[in-house]
Amino acid sequence: MSETLKPEDTCVLVTGGAGFIGSHTVVELLNRGYRTVVVDDLSNASEVALERVREIVGEQHAANLTFYQENVLDRAALERIFTAHRIDRVIHFAGFKAVGESVTKPIEYYHNNIESTLALVDTMRAHGCKSIIFSSSSTVYGDPDNPPVTEESPKKMATNPYGWTKWMIEQILTDIHTADPNWNVVLLRYFNPIGAHESGLMGEDPKGIPNNLVPYVAQVAVGKLEAVQVFGDDYPTPDGTGVRDYIHVVDLATGHVAALNWMNGRTGVEVFNLGTGTGTSVLEVIHAFEKACGHEIPYAVKPRRAGDIAANWCDASKAEREMGWKAQFDIADMCRDSWRWQSQNPDGYRTER
Ligand SMILES: NC(=O)c1ccc[n+]([C@@H]2O[C@H](COP(=O)([O-])OP(=O)(O)OC[C@H]3O[C@@H](n4cnc5c(N)ncnc54)[C@H](O)[C@@H]3O)[C@@H](O)[C@H]2O)c1
Repeated sequence: MSETLKPEDTCVLVTGGAGFIGSHTVVELLNRGYRTVVVDDLSNASEVALERVREIVGEQHAANLTFYQENVLDRAALERIFTAHRIDRVIHFAGFKAVGESVTKPIEYYHNNIESTLALVDTMRAHGCKSIIFSSSSTVYGDPDNPPVTEESPKKMATNPYGWTKWMIEQILTDIHTADPNWNVVLLRYFNPIGAHESGLMGEDPKGIPNNLVPYVAQVAVGKLEAVQVFGDDYPTPDGTGVRDYIHVVDLATGHVAALNWMNGRTGVEVFNLGTGTGTSVLEVIHAFEKACGHEIPYAVKPRRAGDIAANWCDASKAEREMGWKAQFDIADMCRDSWRWQSQNPDGYRTER
């Protein structure tokens, strides 16, 4: 059974903690008094994100943050970190996440996502740390037959290497628990994280042209891109455009805090959907963003994209029932906060303040 720990007595290792979801989670951990060790190689993040984290939480909480710019693939570096800190829990965000890129770079994706996880769990085992929360994804449900999906809905064949890495890492962590039932594994299946910290200091900062809808809409809204491309308006959905379950990144972050609490005194493998339980179409997102930014957002309808599905949203009731967690923010809040971040930081963390 894993120990029951108070936040101030818990040291959490956060891999990928400088990234979009990681940095927002680190804020929530520090605000609650967790000692937090971030490992991130900054391959898809800026150290400025962690400066903003420190600014948001204030000096006293910021003193509980330690950052290592290291690659999780580097076993010697992990060994040094686990020797320097008595890590109690791990939240594993680090990984490459661009679906399209994973199709053209499968070797890099399997190497980075899977081998880093193996290096991590091997080091954890060597140091007697057996509690891990893993960033999984709604992608493991594939094209669901009948949304909303519950945690019991079948996992389907992945359609790209990124999806397979999530699928396989879930399986690897499950097998590790089978081999040693003292492990405590929480698989969090995120739906579509968007939004930004309400301070306007932190948000998603994609390199190059954004892959995801809302950062793209935000860059059109701020004038950096011309028009939103809507891929397909002939899906069997109310307005013909794709429907997803968008979740505010701060809700997602508090979902990790809830999972840490839930892990106390338990072992096992548990899966939770983290979403709002509401589906929103592409056109509804564009219109919600127009309300947030106060002007029209040009868009153009294009053919469907290969691999895209019509609709997926979740039944999030298990997380509420078991962990007492429920999303607090709606699509209007998400767009308002994304807009605040984008308009105040048009060049993301490279914006001069
Ligand atoms: N954003 C989404 O839509 C979404 C949805 C479902 C699941 N997820 C998963 O959640 C996690 C976090 O996603 P995010 O949106 O914050 O992405 P992100 O790219 O902003 O964060 C990932 C972080 O990991 C770091 N990283 C990558 N490989 C590393 C390595 N080998 N060693 C050390 N650091 C490394 C990157 O520099 C980055 O800071 C990822 O595992 C992602 O697959 C994301």
